[in-house]
Amino acid sequence: MRMLAVFALALASCAGSDVRQDILRSLEKGLVAAPEPNASEAGAAILRAGGNAVDAAIALQFALAVTFPNAGNLGGGGFMLVHTKDGETSFDYRETAPAAAHRDLFLDAKGDVIPGMSLDTAKAAGVPGTVAGMALAHKRFGSLPWERLLEPAIRLAEEGWTLDAWSARSFASQRRNNSADYLTGKAGERFVQKELAATLRRIAEKGRDGFYAGETARLIVEEMKRSGGIIALRDLARYEAKERKPVEGSYRGHRVVSMAPPSSGGIALLQLLNMLERHDPPLLGFHSAEHLHLVAEIEKRVFADRSEYLGDPDLYPVPVARLTSKEYAAERAKPISPAKKTAPGDVTHGALPREKEETTHFSVVDRWGNAVSNTTTLNGSYGCGIFVRGAGFLLNNEMDDFSAKPGVPNMFGVIGREANAIAPGKRMLSSMCPTFVFKEGKLWLVLGTPGGPTIFTTVFQVIVNRVDFGKTLAEAVAAPRFHHQWPPLGKDADPISFEKPPADAVKAALEKLGYAVHVRGRIGDVHAIEIVRAVGFHGERAVVPVGACDPRGMGRTASE
Ligand code: DON
Repeated sequence: MRMLAVFALALASCAGSDVRQDILRSLEKGLVAAPEPNASEAGAAILRAGGNAVDAAIALQFALAVTFPNAGNLGGGGFMLVHTKDGETSFDYRETAPAAAHRDLFLDAKGDVIPGMSLDTAKAAGVPGTVAGMALAHKRFGSLPWERLLEPAIRLAEEGWTLDAWSARSFASQRRNNSADYLTGKAGERFVQKELAATLRRIAEKGRDGFYAGETARLIVEEMKRSGGIIALRDLARYEAKERKPVEGSYRGHRVVSMAPPSSGGIALLQLLNMLERHDPPLLGFHSAEHLHLVAEIEKRVFADRSEYLGDPDLYPVPVARLTSKEYAAERAKPISPAKKTAPGDVTHGALPREKEETTHFSVVDRWGNAVSNTTTLNGSYGCGIFVRGAGFLLNNEMDDFSAKPGVPNMFGVIGREANAIAPGKRMLSSMCPTFVFKEGKLWLVLGTPGGPTIFTTVFQVIVNRVDFGKTLAEAVAAPRFHHQWPPLGKDADPISFEKPPADAVKAALEKLGYAVHVRGRIGDVHAIEIVRAVGFHGERAVVPVGACDPRGMGRTASE
């Protein structure tokens, strides 16, 4: 009976038409939940070949660079969170500012931000981190040979893959810089990338030197000269991915582990959870005006703290422990009133007690219980729109995540201050939030999403939907999302944006409090895994990884 209940639960919490097969095949086997089917298959093939979750994640990351070029990348960066029997660690492969970058890189002679410069030019590109990140992860945890992990990506680039309707439409809409020369083809045609295949082969043969030195490095620097960029050979040679201790907290007794700075994602997620924990969301009702107002008030405070305190931890002292403490959450949440909205102008950063936040995400678990939660990006969709000619990959526009002018919002409307000012070698602040949630000491949820500043508010909503509102993982992922941030995005005084218009009464109540109610496009593209455990008289009888791919995207699960 008990096992049946587990299967029923597992069945209920998986999306897609091949759900039943996934569950039967994934029983006590590894599982991948990723944003593009060819890439999911690449990861699963590595699991089938006996690789572990990190091996599969590396293969998936390289495959995404081929089949999901709007966000998958060689010329970008990201964050990988890893769980093994020894605990959790993370790999920070965030881009860095080139040595020739400086505080006023994107300002004109009058000190004003030059529109578009940090987004659509070669100077928008930070030094890419992805290849170094994968090499470091492989050195620490890889079990299959490095070249083996590049094989699926090389095959997809060399032999091509069939363009789906979404990718063909997306390619056709790209006209920036030289992107239209590369992003060609109609739905149903094979998309072959010979230059990219050659670059991947160099990486397979030489490891990180296949990217940061030799032919690939030379081609990057040539592109910089052609396009007016500033990444030099020495920037490439010096780039280092870093292993970092994740941030950790709890939510209603569940341990939560997420990404540390230079991403704001983990700290922001913990702050959101800490402040919400003081309330009982089901008592307020899912997406009632009271629930939405409470969360908006909490989000406002978290964004204000993000802009004040967060930046590259190697160059700026980020008060991680204090920001993520329950005491600080209590203090920060105290002035929140159900009857009154805090005006944007009244939100300041908190007074910290003394010491004592197109990207893409995938999740992987293997048969041994190891897990990877990995979020990676070029920042904007297709980065800065510049392909490195001869090498066949896109460069990021991650430099826009710095504060071009401290106090002035970036493309996502988020503000940063001194902590996130541009400096040579510095990592720009991120919102990426690859996360694990543990139940009774054991790994339970593996999740993350793209979406700029909606990243951590989305991960937050999925956790709260699962933990507080009793939704299945698939329901928690599919549920309509909303977002609020500080400072307000757009012209309205204080907007809350919704994927689906709220009920009339909820809208009226929010407007009465002073919010502007906006309806916007999709928020996020979550790819999550839940480990369902069946416990019998003699301990665990079955461990079933169940995937949930966001119905907003075209992701797929694939099992070992
Ligand atoms: O690091 C960050 O937070 C941003 N560069 C992420 C950008 C993003 O998620 C865009 N995708 N929708």
